[in-house]
Amino acid sequence: MVKITFIDADGTARTAEGEEGATVMETAIRNDIPGIVAECGGACACATCHVYVDEEWKEVVGEPSPMEEDMLDFASDVRPTSRLSCQIRITPELDGLVVHTPKHQG
Ligand code: FES
Repeated sequence: MVKITFIDADGTARTAEGEEGATVMETAIRNDIPGIVAECGGACACATCHVYVDEEWKEVVGEPSPMEEDMLDFASDVRPTSRLSCQIRITPELDGLVVHTPKHQG
């Protein structure tokens, strides 16, 4: 299992264990992490699973695909570290990953 920490807009941190091959969004939903809505269920079609990847993890997580980039246009307050968490697949390298959830989704 891979540990992922979600920090909300108020600074509260919650750590969940994700399975390799699952996504960061699925891990959040399975563990009742607030701040991730995931309306489309992971189809890269809603942008309500928006997160900010912690600066220290930005390179490990990598850049969004062109399709994800297009969908991110629908998220609010997009920043250079923005990603859609349904498009981040969990690998062993992501153990300890930190992401920040935005104040609002959509
Ligand atoms: S869950 Fe809809 S874009 Fe990620």
